[in-house]
Amino acid sequence: MSTIDYDPYSHEAMKDPYPLYAAMRKEGKPHFMPKYNGWALARFQDIWDASTKVDENCTFTKGQTPGQVLLGEPVPSTFMTMDAPEHRKWRGLIRHEFTPEGVRESEQRLRELTRELLAPLLKKGEFDVYSDLSNRVTCINAGYNLGLPREDAEKWRGLIDDMLHREEGQVGGGSPRNQAAAGQLFGYFGQYVHELRTNPALAQRYTKIFLEASVDGRTLTDEEMMFYLFSLLVVGSETTPITVAGTFWNLEHNPDQKAAVLKEMAAGKTDLARKAFLETARYDQPTNMLARVAKKDFELNGVQVKAGQPLLFLYASAERDESVYPNPDKFDMYRQPTEKSLMFGHGGHKCLGMHLGVMMGCILVEEILKAVGDYTVVEEKCERLYGEHLSGWGKVTIKFKPHT
Ligand code: HEM
Repeated sequence: MSTIDYDPYSHEAMKDPYPLYAAMRKEGKPHFMPKYNGWALARFQDIWDASTKVDENCTFTKGQTPGQVLLGEPVPSTFMTMDAPEHRKWRGLIRHEFTPEGVRESEQRLRELTRELLAPLLKKGEFDVYSDLSNRVTCINAGYNLGLPREDAEKWRGLIDDMLHREEGQVGGGSPRNQAAAGQLFGYFGQYVHELRTNPALAQRYTKIFLEASVDGRTLTDEEMMFYLFSLLVVGSETTPITVAGTFWNLEHNPDQKAAVLKEMAAGKTDLARKAFLETARYDQPTNMLARVAKKDFELNGVQVKAGQPLLFLYASAERDESVYPNPDKFDMYRQPTEKSLMFGHGGHKCLGMHLGVMMGCILVEEILKAVGDYTVVEEKCERLYGEHLSGWGKVTIKFKPHT
């Protein structure tokens, strides 16, 4: 019987889950949560093994977020909440756009967008890496890929943040602030889908692909179309800016590594800036956790999982697992890459946007450092995220010599 009282919605877990994660990893097996009649997987190997057999043992149709599987929040119907083989067919429709070659086509556009939004901030000598720049770039890009007007990007950014915001002790995403934001976003997409149906020539990129798609004789309903646009906007813009902001925080608190990155940047190279971004994605894994439901009884590292039980994949814990990463609580951009990684998940539902996320993140880190050079972090204007779903830095303000 475990002595650890882990509830993903407790204040302790939503504020700083890392001590709880370390304690659960020490238990050496999946952690049972009696309150939810389910399992929290904190160890790297347990998540890896469960992910390897996820199609055989689990279903995504009951949801993919902790709120959906633990609290019964509504499950939007997209490929993210489908099982194989249907999942692969719908996800595969936009796969090319996310291959290394596919994302390279966006590199120049993203660099220009970053420079354009960065220029006015440089004159101020201080800005929040998350909301003043990174989150804007990722939202505008996600909107661009869906063919949405750029002018609306500021509005979506604020609405997504409001939708994911958690008050102290809040259980799930049902606060008036969350609901109002979700209502506005769905209202916006509902109207957009209506316009697309009336005038299909408006549809571009992913929107065009999904609007015209027919898989096994099935096309998307208006509601499903809305869920696809909504979900792709959210997943395409939430995790990357958190990691970019965290990179600036982590370098500031590791001055030797910051000096090395700046020195290399001054010599026109960006390898260390990239390593710092990737190490931040490990150290401060933005996808704190995702979830599935067992569709049959199966054994996992000595415990018997029963059909219908929820499973939490605690990615942020896996990426601090001492049996995989020596000295895991240290930010060390010089780490050797490991043979296996859970930074972007594993198995059939592995992150679709990993190449895009890494490219966008590295462009942002490089362009900011190139322009500002050395900087300091304004600690009183920084905030860690609070909640069950995402983790890391949601505000990191940096100060530097203003450009004249
Ligand atoms: C640093 C940036 C990112 C990180 C760390 C990250 C991490 C992850 C992780 C851990 C998963 C696994 C989901 C699971 O286990 O169910 C995932 C899934 C996913 N990610 Fe990312 N992600 C990032 C950026 C992006 C971007 C830019 C996109 C753009 C569209 C994206 C799209 C997706 C999608 C669509 C899925 C669900 C895939 C499926 O269910 O088939 N991600 N991501």
